[in-house]
Order: sequence, then C-alpha cells, then structure tokens
Amino acid sequence: MDLTTKFMGLKLKNPIIAGSSGLTSNLSDILDLEKNGAAAIVLKSLFEEQIIFNKTAKIKEMDLAANYPEAQEYISHHTKKKAVDDYIELIADCKKKLTIPVIASINCVTPYEWPAFAHEIELAGADALELNIFFLPTDPQRMSVQIEETYLEIIHEVMKKVSFPVCVKVSPYFSGLSNSLLRFSFTGIKGMVLFNRYFSPDIGIAEMKVVTGPIFSNPDEIYLSLRWLAMLSDRIYCDLAASSGIHDGKGLVKVLLAGAKAVEIASIFYMRGPGEIGVILKYLEEYLQRHNFSSVSEIIGKMSMRQIDNPADFERVQFIKYYSGIE
Ligand SMILES: Cc1cc2nc3c(=O)[nH]c(=O)nc-3n(C[C@H](O)[C@H](O)[C@H](O)COP(=O)(O)O)c2cc1C
Repeated sequence: MDLTTKFMGLKLKNPIIAGSSGLTSNLSDILDLEKNGAAAIVLKSLFEEQIIFNKTAKIKEMDLAANYPEAQEYISHHTKKKAVDDYIELIADCKKKLTIPVIASINCVTPYEWPAFAHEIELAGADALELNIFFLPTDPQRMSVQIEETYLEIIHEVMKKVSFPVCVKVSPYFSGLSNSLLRFSFTGIKGMVLFNRYFSPDIGIAEMKVVTGPIFSNPDEIYLSLRWLAMLSDRIYCDLAASSGIHDGKGLVKVLLAGAKAVEIASIFYMRGPGEIGVILKYLEEYLQRHNFSSVSEIIGKMSMRQIDNPADFERVQFIKYYSGIE
C-alpha cells in the first residue's frame, strides 16, 4: 500500500504530521514521534516577540555588559535571547538526528522587523516554515479588511526573505473566509493548514474566576475543517492540510477525502501517546484495502465539492427537518 503524499512540496511517507505543540519542543519527544511513524514534524512555535527581543538584546548587550554587568534587565533579555538561540539549535539538532522533514513555526502578528529571521531558520536547515498567524479581533476600530491586509503583508515580507516552502496555519475567523484564503494562496505560499485551535478561557462558577478551557480537542471539532477543506481544496492555489479534531483513522480518511494532503495532529498524542500514529495508519491502510485503492493519493479530494454529485451538500447550514430528521 502506498501511503505517501506530498504537502507543500515535501515528500511524506504518510499523511501524518506531528503538529506544533509542547511535544515538538524537545528532541527526545520529537525522536519518539518519528520512531512511531510521524511523516514530518512542526516544531513548537517561536513567538515573534522573542525574535524581536533577541534583536534588541543583541544591541543592548554590549552596552549593558560594559556599564552594568549585573543588570537585571540584561538577564531577562538574555533569557529571551536564549530561547531564540535554542530554537536554532533545536532545528540543527533535528536535522542531524531525523530523517523526516522538519518544519519550523513562528507565531507572528506584525510584518515588521522579524521576517528577516525566517532566513536564519532556513539557514539552520529547516525544510519549511509554518506561519502561525492570528489576531483576536478585539479592537472595535480595526476593520476586517485591515486585519486581512496585515496577514498579506506578513506573508509577502516572509516570502521576500526565503526560498524554502512556506505554509500558513489559519483560523476560521474571517467573515470572507473563501476570499481571504484564496488571496493568501496567490502569494506564493505552498500550503495552508485548516485550522489552528486556540487557547480558550472558561469561567469557574464555584470559584468565580477565569479558568483554563479544554486544552485538548474533541473529535467533533473535525467538522469545521472538513466542510472548508471540501469547499476550498479544488479552488485554492496551494496544498491544504487539516488540523483540529482528528483523533482516529476515520477522521484521517474523512479529511483526505475532503481534499487535505496531510494532517497536523496534537491532542491525541498528548492523550494516548505517539503510538496512536500506528493505530491511525493501520486504519487508513485497511480502509484503502477494503475499498480497492492502492494509494493514499487516489482518495485525496475524492469527496471534495467539485467531485460530488450535489455540491450544495457542503453549503447547508440550517437544520431543516428534511436534512436533520429533527423538527
Ligand atoms: C498543548 C498544545 C500546544 C500547542 N502549541 C501550538 C503552537 O505553539 N503553535 C501552533 O501553531 N499550534 C499549536 N497547537 C495547536 C496544534 O498544533 C493543533 O493545530 C491543534 O491542537 C489542533 O489539532 P488537534 O485537534 O490534533 O489537537 C498546540 C496544541 C496544544 C494541545
């Protein structure tokens, strides 16, 4: 059975990429993910703030070191600078030890100062870069068009600095989602990941305070990506990968049928360990056999909007009785 696929030009031995998380922030967990069958890994995101801090720290370092060698500020700068140095070192270590592609990730919110760092990531040997861009649209003065322009500026600035493949991990929170993603796909990026999943606050009603919402996804969260993958995979000018709510082989098969070329998984590895990769791949292989396919590529996009008899099935949003069976 041929499980290989290609996402943003990277050849993958199967469609499972270990998504960016705490499990991809250290070499030992990363090696474990590779050993268990991950086809690629996305490193834990480095934050734009850390990169900018690193830059200013370099400038201040000499000055502070000369005048106030023990300044507290210097120490705090140094800590953040170390995070950046460590990230570069982690990329280099991964490239030495792993045979699968290593995708670096930056959590970015502005197009200024930091995109030059993308080139350093390329020099460190990463196979590709994932941009984890998201702004919570809290500012009532900021129009949606301004937010979308910032996304485009960030992508353009990064694309100017690098020649390796870049993908963007997006949120579903765009009022004109199809148009926004289509425009992103015209920038030269090689892939998009639908969708990232964010930290959510919750309210503890007994203690009357803000507490942490569920850290891990549940399998129902797959439906948002599934619909949009099916609707956009034939129309977007780059590869698509799925993320959020893929907990088992069935979920993987569904998003591949909808048009994803690969998946980025995190929660289930925390909940059940990286051994789950083998379980999911076994299901995929058996599914392909049962349906007389000999490769993953034969099912990618087979149930996308353009391939099915009634494309409007993916556009339905209201629970009218005819479709839901419930009044
Ligand atoms: C603990 C944790 C940390 C994460 N950190 C990042 C991160 O740094 N950058 C990022 O792009 N996604 C991050 N994610 C999101 C995952 O990569 C993934 O897209 C998301 O959890 C949805 O997939 P899942 O349903 O398989 O968990 C994190 C997820 C978890 C659970």
